[in-house]
Amino acid sequence: LPRRRAPLVLLGLVGLGCGGPDPGAQPEGWDSAVAMRPATDRNADPKTFEMDLEARIEELELVAGLKTPAWTYDGSIPGPFVRANVGDRLIVHFRNTLPEPTTIHWHGLRIPAAMDGAAGHSQPEIQPGETFTYDFVLPDAGLYWYHPHVHSAAQLGFGLYGGLLVDDPTEPADLGDELVLVLSDMAIRDDGSLQDPQTGLDFGTLFGREGDLLLVNGKKNPEIRARAGRRQRWRIVNAAKSRYFQLAMKEHTFTRIGGDGGFMEKPVESAALVLTPGERADVLVVPRGAPGSTLSVRWVPYDRGYGTTFNRPEEEVFRVRLTDEAEVAETPRPKTDRVITPLDLEGATPIALDLTQGEVDGKMVMGINGVPSWEAVPVPATVGETQVWTVKNTMDFDHPFHLHGFFFQKLDASLAPIHPMEWKDTVNVPVDGTGRFAVRYDDRPGMWMFHCHILDHADAGMMGVLDLQGGSGHSAH
Ligand code: C2O
Ligand code: CU
Ligand code: CU
Repeated sequence: LPRRRAPLVLLGLVGLGCGGPDPGAQPEGWDSAVAMRPATDRNADPKTFEMDLEARIEELELVAGLKTPAWTYDGSIPGPFVRANVGDRLIVHFRNTLPEPTTIHWHGLRIPAAMDGAAGHSQPEIQPGETFTYDFVLPDAGLYWYHPHVHSAAQLGFGLYGGLLVDDPTEPADLGDELVLVLSDMAIRDDGSLQDPQTGLDFGTLFGREGDLLLVNGKKNPEIRARAGRRQRWRIVNAAKSRYFQLAMKEHTFTRIGGDGGFMEKPVESAALVLTPGERADVLVVPRGAPGSTLSVRWVPYDRGYGTTFNRPEEEVFRVRLTDEAEVAETPRPKTDRVITPLDLEGATPIALDLTQGEVDGKMVMGINGVPSWEAVPVPATVGETQVWTVKNTMDFDHPFHLHGFFFQKLDASLAPIHPMEWKDTVNVPVDGTGRFAVRYDDRPGMWMFHCHILDHADAGMMGVLDLQGGSGHSAH
């Protein structure tokens, strides 16, 4: 079966005003085996994407023959896939019909604090039966995602997450047949019911609770089709609440061209691809093999500090079936190199954080600088300021550290940028190691959260807040 045109070609037509498909719709050429339900744009203005979204419980058949009362956005897992262009306005009329409060956090988007969804900091919880309208401009191209920010571990683990792709119509065409892959895992009992979130930190769940059911766009072990030699562009987000994904494909390498915040300085080639919870990757893969054969994309154990003691065995996440057509010669890869200017660290304020574990009233808590989130003092900052964060891991296993609302640049021990440079919002802080990054607050005062993106850890206290004050009022955007 021949693949159709790459979606970017279609978006080009939209940009020229020739009509064409709604950019939010499932683009042609995407593999139906991993198709996500597209969000519906009900606004006629091509620069505004306006949609309704409801959080509700719905019975889904995630495992054949089993009914699961999943927590969903609009009745699907993942929630509706939003696709719009950079600079577009996104309006989401949200309704909560869950039995408990929730909010939506737009992970990675540089939007005003009031739209960030951080319950208790930037907006009140949205109670059952209540509505809230999110309304903001999409400032940067890249792959983002949305998820709750109240009891995040439980709500996300029950199925509340969705993908959001922000296209840049000027980016090089034909990087490959494009797929967005939202990876997750769920913990489901043999009768189909959801396992308790069990976010308490006993020994077995200290690592963060993982689910047995690996999902790609809500489907278990799907099979996608590809033509041998024809480049694929996979845009991947790890939407699992605690599980690290290390992916490998025998005799193939991944060429990563981008991450959390769009293209990186230069591509990096590797045999395995690691995504901590929250992270995104934009990778090119050229599948090769005999026509009609299958290639296995596998989850492989990643050492998070205890060797692989607590890891599960290697497992297939999805398969690529090569079509019966003869292998084609690989076409030259368009350049995606991007100039990223290192932030000027002259006069930057140092911020030192230790990721810690402790006990409060006989209960194990996780925290930052010795205190859990509910006792934490906000980190002060002013618009216009640049800070260098040094996040030290004093514990026995890795933590993916995430900051809301601002991209940062990773630094090495001498505070030089790590090349190839890229804009990040989540960074792995390895066991006995340190995560260092530079961040500049150009605009958008408010309360911004930071936390471990193993959401069991965040809920257990490994979270804090940045208090960004307005400053001299200058704004870079
Ligand atoms: Cu995906 Cu507070 O984060
Ligand atoms: Cu976030
Ligand atoms: Cu953690």
